[in-house]
Amino acid sequence: MVQEEFLLDSGQNTEDVSRPKSRNRLGLVITGVVGGTVVALYAVTAPFVAPALRKICLPFVPATTAQVENVLNALRPRAGTLVDIGSGDGRIVIAAAKHGFKASGFELNPWLVWYSRCKAWREGVHHSAAFHISDLWKVSFAQYSNVVIFGVPQMMNQLELKLESELPSTAKVVACRFPFPTWIPEHTAGEGIDTVWVYDAKNFKSQLGRRTKRNTPVDHKHTPECKED
Ligand SMILES: C[S@@+](CC[C@H](N)C(=O)[O-])C[C@H]1O[C@@H](n2cnc3c(N)ncnc32)[C@H](O)[C@@H]1O
Repeated sequence: MVQEEFLLDSGQNTEDVSRPKSRNRLGLVITGVVGGTVVALYAVTAPFVAPALRKICLPFVPATTAQVENVLNALRPRAGTLVDIGSGDGRIVIAAAKHGFKASGFELNPWLVWYSRCKAWREGVHHSAAFHISDLWKVSFAQYSNVVIFGVPQMMNQLELKLESELPSTAKVVACRFPFPTWIPEHTAGEGIDTVWVYDAKNFKSQLGRRTKRNTPVDHKHTPECKED
C-alpha cells in the first residue's frame, strides 16, 4: 500500500516536472527561430539601407535597358579596360564584357557583388567580368581606360576631382543620368532619364591645376529627374 502510494506520487511528480521542461524547450526553439530570422533579415537588408545613411546617399537604382545600350553605343568602337563605379547588380559590367571589354565593377553591397558574380558565371563572361566589394572613394581607377558612373548629383564634384587626378589622358568617362558639374562633354546620347554624357580625359585633365578652388555648385539645369525604374 505504501509502495503503491509512493509509485503513484512519483508518477505524478514526473509529469508535473516534465511539463515546464518541454515548455522551456519550446520557448527556446521559438526564441531561436525569431532571433535567427531577425539576424538574417538584418544581414540581407542592411547593405541596401546603409547607402542612405552615408554622407553621400547613393542608393541601388539599376540602369534601364536603354541606359545600358546608350553607354555601350557611347563607347563604341573603344576596347580595353572598363570600370563601372558602384556596379549594382552588374548589368553594365556584364553587358560590357559581352562587347569585348575587360570589365570590372566596384560595389559596396556584398549581396549585389555575389549576385553579379553568379550572373557573370551563368552568362559565360566570368573571365572578362570581375566584381569587387569596395568603397569607391577608397580605390584608384588609374588602370581603367573606360569609366562608367551612374551616381547622384551630390557626389559628382568630388568624383570629378578624383578622376581628374587618377585617370590617364587616354580615358573616356561616361556619366549616366547625372552629368559632371564642370567638365564639358564631348557628346551625349539618349534622352530623359536614359541620357549619358561622354567626357574625354584629355579635355578635363587639361583643366587640372588651372582650378584653384572647387566649390562649383552642381548645375541641374539639364539634369533629368531621378526616378526609380
Ligand atoms: C545608382 S546605382 C547604379 C548601379 C549600376 N551601376 C547600374 O547602372 O545599374 C549605384 C550603386 O552604387 C553603390 N554604392 C553606393 N555607395 C557606394 C560606395 N561608397 N562605393 C561603392 N559602391 C557604392 C550602391 O550600392 C548602388 O548599387
